[in-house]
Amino acid sequence: MYNGWEEFYNIEVGDKLDFFSRNKRLLVVIFAQQFDRKFLDFMCKLANQIRTLAQTKMGAQKLSCLLYHKRAMLYFVQPSTRTFVSFLNACHILGMRVSEIRGTSTSSEVKGESQEDTIRTFASYVDLIIIRHPEEGFVEKAAWVLNQTERPVPVINGGSGPDQHPSQALLDIYTLERSFENIGGLDGKKVAMVGDLKRGRTVRSLSYLMKNYKDVTLYFVSPDIFRMKDDIKSFLNKHKIEFYETDDFTSVIPIVDAIYMTRIQKEYSTTPSKEVDVYPNFHFTKEHLSKIQSHCIIMHPLPRRYEIEVAVDKDPRAVYWRQERNGMWIRTALIAYIFGVEDEISAEFN
Ligand code: CP
Repeated sequence: MYNGWEEFYNIEVGDKLDFFSRNKRLLVVIFAQQFDRKFLDFMCKLANQIRTLAQTKMGAQKLSCLLYHKRAMLYFVQPSTRTFVSFLNACHILGMRVSEIRGTSTSSEVKGESQEDTIRTFASYVDLIIIRHPEEGFVEKAAWVLNQTERPVPVINGGSGPDQHPSQALLDIYTLERSFENIGGLDGKKVAMVGDLKRGRTVRSLSYLMKNYKDVTLYFVSPDIFRMKDDIKSFLNKHKIEFYETDDFTSVIPIVDAIYMTRIQKEYSTTPSKEVDVYPNFHFTKEHLSKIQSHCIIMHPLPRRYEIEVAVDKDPRAVYWRQERNGMWIRTALIAYIFGVEDEISAEFN
């Protein structure tokens, strides 16, 4: 059907989604564009059910039997704290055994093994591969390679270079929906994304998901050199999602319902030591707390550096610590869905 990886890689994302869904079921999670509203709503509901079950010994035992017969590989060769630990714990909640590689220097890649053979090798031992990689497109390539073997095990993108971080976007949606559950959810809300929008994969993936929500307005707030890339802006235009770009953070602070802060992604700089990475005009300080709306939430995918003053943490509208915990529940929901055990969880609530 396709003449090799290069041809496949270069086609439009929308034209290749079917390649990664087997019998219309999402088994390979590469792009945020794979998630529609029905799926997002279902994931949020399932995550709520899982967190409720996990509170009791009986519920936790029930969950831990669901995938006791499955094994996962965490191949994280770009630094990670939250995504790694939350996926690890998500696997544990469902009873899965987990293997890990956290750097190419400890795999046989140092002996010259190709990326393709490395991925095939993982699939020989496990039933799910979760990948964090510095190269854009690597996770997609892994799924492409496996789709042509006799063991096309599910693959989840845990962050691929500066491109996409779809499971982060899931937890961000879950956090937004939970935070706004008494005021109509995310529909109709104004969301500011602040900082390094050019290389921030979290804001890129989250922007894609906004097409699933009604009347959302985005405010892209960044220094000129870190403006959101044109591919995202074209996507938003195509789907008629209103957005504004500005470098004036103070004008946006009082009018939005959510402020999504990000750090300058210095690791992608070609001359990291020379690049300025402190942009005080794009920091959220405790003085700003009196200027935001009473229901406005402050989010951050973390890790943070200077973008949010530590004193802000005490304000109940600062939700980033809850946001990272939400990641564990929604990632558990995602894995449960991939292995088709979601009905066994929902049945506990009938
Ligand atoms: N938000 C996030 O991806 O954090 P880590 O890099 O620590 O996984």
